[in-house]
Order: sequence, then C-alpha cells, then structure tokens
Amino acid sequence: MGVNLRGRSYLKLLDYSSAEIRYLLDLSKNFKDMKRAGVPHKYLEGKNIVLLFEKTSTRTRCSFEVAGMDLGMGVTYLDPGSSQMGKKESIPDTARVLGRMYDGIEYRGFSQELVEELAKYAGVPVWNGLTDEFHPTQMLADMLTIEEKLGSLAGKNFTYMGDARNNMGNSLMVVCAKLGVNFTACAPKALFPAEDLVETCKEIAAKNHCTITLTDDVKKGTTDADVIYTDVWVSMGEPDEVWAERIKLLTPYQVNAAAMANAKPTAIFMHCLPAFHDLKTKVGKDIYEKFGIDCMEVTDEVIEGPQSVVFDEAENRMHTIKAIMYATLK
Ligand code: CP
Ligand code: NVA
Repeated sequence: MGVNLRGRSYLKLLDYSSAEIRYLLDLSKNFKDMKRAGVPHKYLEGKNIVLLFEKTSTRTRCSFEVAGMDLGMGVTYLDPGSSQMGKKESIPDTARVLGRMYDGIEYRGFSQELVEELAKYAGVPVWNGLTDEFHPTQMLADMLTIEEKLGSLAGKNFTYMGDARNNMGNSLMVVCAKLGVNFTACAPKALFPAEDLVETCKEIAAKNHCTITLTDDVKKGTTDADVIYTDVWVSMGEPDEVWAERIKLLTPYQVNAAAMANAKPTAIFMHCLPAFHDLKTKVGKDIYEKFGIDCMEVTDEVIEGPQSVVFDEAENRMHTIKAIMYATLK
C-alpha cells in the first residue's frame, strides 16, 4: 500500500510505521539531489508556516526556514520572548489562532505533552522541533547520514554514549528499533532510558530483527560498533547545578580515541550538535574554569578526525525537514 502522510503531525517516531519512515528517507534523498542539482522545487507556493521556539536553536530553526523558503512558503519565526504563548495565552488558544493563519506549525519546547496538545488543537500539521523527551526531526537526518556513509541501515550496530535518557537517547532507540538497527545505550545505570520506553522499543525491535541493549560497560558497548553517537551531558532546560554530577557520571563515557578504537575500523562518529569539544564556547570556557576539563562528551581529536561525519549530518537536517513538511502539507 502507498504511504500518504498528508495532514499528519510529526510529533514522535513511535507514531510512524517503518514504511512511513522509509518513505520520508527516500523523499529526503530526492530533495537533496534536487537541491544539489539546482532544480527548483517550490511545490508549496502559497502556503505559510510558523516556527515557535521556546528553546534556542541553530540547525533546526535554519533548516525549517531554508526548507520552507526552498519549497516556496512564507515563514514566520517566533522566539521565546515574542509571542503571548504560555504567558498570556494557553497552548489550546495559541494552536487554534495559529491554525487559522498557517498551514503548518513547528514547535520546540519543554514537555512532549505541550507539542501533543498543540497538535490536538491546531487543525494543521505540527512538527516537533525538540522536546525534553523526543527530537524526531533529528532522527531522519541521522538515519539518512548513516545510509549515505555506510550504504545501509538494517543490521548495523549503533552505540549511543552518554545521557541515554534524554531526547536524543530516547529518539535514537526508537528509530533504530523501527529501522532494524541494533541499538546499544552505553551509559551509567542512573542515566539509562525509562524502562517502559525500553520495553516498547524491544517489542518493535523484535519485529524488525534487531536488538536493544543497555550496558554500563564501555568496552562491551563500543566493541564492533558501526556508529558511535553522543550528545551533550546537560540538555537545554536543565539547571546548571547538574553539571558537577553529570561530569562525574559521564566522563568514563566520553567518545575519545580509545572508545573509537573498539569500534569497527569503518565506524563513523556522529553528534546532533552543538558539541563541547574545545574551549571556543562560553559554556566550554566556564566548565574549564570550574572543573578543569577542556572537552566533554567528545574529544577534539575525534570530532575533527576522519571518522567524524557531524557536518554532513547537520546538512541533512535541512533536506529531511523539507521532506517532512512536503509529505505532510502537499
Ligand atoms: N541538533 C539540533 O537540534 O541543533 P539546534 O539546537 O541548533 O537546532
Ligand atoms: N539533548 C540536547 C539536544 C540538542 C539538539 C538538548 O536537548 O539540549
């Protein structure tokens, strides 16, 4: 049966079938080819979208803006300080107002319930640009990048190192289960993903002939990996007070040359970005002054090294977000 996503929201990948995710990946490739070849694709001329950001962003915001403009759409960006949402106007009221004016709404914010509520009332597709629980637009970019670099997805060994119960750890576990990729969360037990989500993913993985593994053993977790992935140790919205504990808990799970050496020689390194790998950021400098470390979740050597594909991955955010908007609005 053909895949038809018209009118659907994109809130988390648990809502999407493997075939629907596959369709979006193929569509992303088509859009990437068109962009590279300079073939115009203003297929959604006359439509308008609004981007609501309650947390900061570089990649997600710019991807939605460029993709929207490439598709011929009008784009409005609202930052945390410049709308009534949440302060003077509830999410249901905001959703119903914006749904009258726009054809689609992107939302980045805190709880998953907020984006689900927005979608319930908007009457137009809502795309989740990151919540505390999930980051589903990042997933398509990540899977597209793996497929481009390694040729296929099914049967590959994917290791996520670090805070495995945040939006990235959760979402990667779901998308791997859906696409037949063996997923390992390599993390301290205190930062393992929630048990109910792990159980759900194990059931999905069994149907797709792949595995979900949780381990706090770095050697075991990284051996024979095709992909090693990490994310920041403290996510947006978390208080500064957690840094000390996270650094203590996660330092053994830093992606460094030793961790990469356990993986396959062909392994790639991935990170959703932004990353703390040097002292060229304000937070990086503050952490250095307080804790004396000059990098965190990944060393400069690894992220700047030949196995790193992080900037191809970042570029793919735009092509994949374009596919999501086109598929749901066309
Ligand atoms: N990876 C990602 O979502 O980046 P931004 O926070 O810059 O959007
Ligand atoms: N876990 C990170 C992802 C950033 C793209 C955060 O939520 O800050």
